[in-house]
Amino acid sequence: MPNWLPTLDGIVQWLVEGIQVADVGCGHGYSTLMMAEEFPNSRFHGFDTQTASIEAARKHAEAAGGRQTGGVCPSRRDDLFRRQYGLVCFFDVPHDLGDPVDAARHVAKVLAPGGTVMLVEPFAHDHTADNLSATGQLYYAASTRPRHPST
Ligand SMILES: C[S@@+](CC[C@H](N)C(=O)[O-])C[C@H]1O[C@@H](n2cnc3c(N)ncnc32)[C@H](O)[C@@H]1O
Repeated sequence: MPNWLPTLDGIVQWLVEGIQVADVGCGHGYSTLMMAEEFPNSRFHGFDTQTASIEAARKHAEAAGGRQTGGVCPSRRDDLFRRQYGLVCFFDVPHDLGDPVDAARHVAKVLAPGGTVMLVEPFAHDHTADNLSATGQLYYAASTRPRHPST
């Protein structure tokens, strides 16, 4: 995380000053909490479609204490669309989305002026032969990839 965020121009400064952040597909909320603890002036909202994950994320936020507890909320579409975000994050999520392109279109509507998207996804090469390691096979199976003409 400390290496990823600085790759986005100016975003660390924004986070220090205070912006709204959406962590889409936050799972148990670890990424949300890591950012919330690092940037106390910003407000972090975790979204996930899995009720059990959101409950776990809430518990982790409560255990961490402090102001970030209210920043973890269920992923109802209306919740996401209720505000504009300076940063929208997808950590290891796009390959789980039924329609990642449509999700990106929706996210474009909730970006504040100058806002940006952090997208982190397991990396796999395009061809099976280039992924013949334990992690390569896993990532190739999970990662979104261009539709090959022969498939
Ligand atoms: C591989 S997990 C990553 C979780 C977390 N970002 C992390 O890095 O630990 C993918 C998450 O995306 C969530 N997800 C899948 N489809 C979603 C959707 N349409 N909206 C929000 N979350 C979604 C899943 O429930 C799951 O928690």
